[in-house]
Amino acid sequence: MNIMPSGSFGPIELKEKGLYIVLPDGTRNYFNYYWLRDNCPSSFSSVTRERSFDIFHLETAPRAARAAIEGDVLVIDWADEDHVTHMPLSVLAIYSDGGIRHDPADLPRKAWYSDHYSAIARFSHPELRADKTAVARWIEAMIVEGLTIVTDMPNTNAGLTELVNLMGQVRPTFFGDYFDVKTHINPTNTAYTAAALELHTDTPAEDYAPGIQFLHCRANSVEGGLSIYSDGVAVANAFRAIDPEGFRLLSETDIPFYCEHDSYDMRSRQRVIELDLHGEVAGLTISQHMLDYIDLPQQMLDDYYPAFCRFGKMLQADRFMMRFLMKAGECMVFDNHRIVHGRLAYSATSGDRYLRGCYADRAEMRSTYRALVSEGRFKP
Ligand SMILES: [Fe+2]
Repeated sequence: MNIMPSGSFGPIELKEKGLYIVLPDGTRNYFNYYWLRDNCPSSFSSVTRERSFDIFHLETAPRAARAAIEGDVLVIDWADEDHVTHMPLSVLAIYSDGGIRHDPADLPRKAWYSDHYSAIARFSHPELRADKTAVARWIEAMIVEGLTIVTDMPNTNAGLTELVNLMGQVRPTFFGDYFDVKTHINPTNTAYTAAALELHTDTPAEDYAPGIQFLHCRANSVEGGLSIYSDGVAVANAFRAIDPEGFRLLSETDIPFYCEHDSYDMRSRQRVIELDLHGEVAGLTISQHMLDYIDLPQQMLDDYYPAFCRFGKMLQADRFMMRFLMKAGECMVFDNHRIVHGRLAYSATSGDRYLRGCYADRAEMRSTYRALVSEGRFKP
């Protein structure tokens, strides 16, 4: 081993709390000793694939006695521990300069507009159950476009659960595991009436509103009741272009949402426009029927309300909003944090209208996608 003495200059320079190393791309990068010791490849179990090393048990701060590059590995001989780390330079290249690990599920979103209906990605229930590559394409469409239609659904409760389980678990809300959208005699929610339901995201009064919504159409023979959908990413990006200050207010200010009836009183604060770690629009939280009294300072409302209303009007604009009739046997699957949905009024006595719905988790969907399309860090 070509070990360099402490403090020497060259491809590696040892310091008190970390070391500098020149990586194969010619850049000189600093790495902290705690980080290098904690992430030593020997810290991870090849069986559980979890970290089995516990850095809290080190008695002294880790410090390199010697270090050298051997082939494509950085070899560190630790000062106060009988341990040698062999760290691949490829790992250092990922994390140099605060880098973020590549995520195959971090795909660019593609905005869609009012003419999108015929282009919606469609998959059949039998196809998804039989073919994992179809599941990967389905989830990819969910990540990129935020909305898909699953056709040929069995007319059963179990059929919906089977579909959800292809991407994750049924994620309960405070309403329970499943919900039934039809006219109720004593409605607790506008959805359970025959009235029009404005574009919204669901359960904004929860701290973490569910990520993926499933609406399984079991019957739809009423007059009216067209479904309406808009892409929050398309609208928010258009809004950003015409009103940057309004966009800033809606993406940085938390406002209150509520959902209250005899036995519950849910409340949360959310931002109307949600940004991802790249600063791109990831989605929305919006619901006129669950918006609480906005409790910002009244003078701030001089700016907030006009921006909020300008954005809300854009959501309803013809160029963004799809209108179509859901058919029995179809299941709409969409990102509840991105796609706003609603329906036009219908005549409750003109026929049957029954949608059965539930939710899954966004992160769990992305997890399933990564497992289907990538090697992962530890797969043998
Ligand atoms: Fe809804």
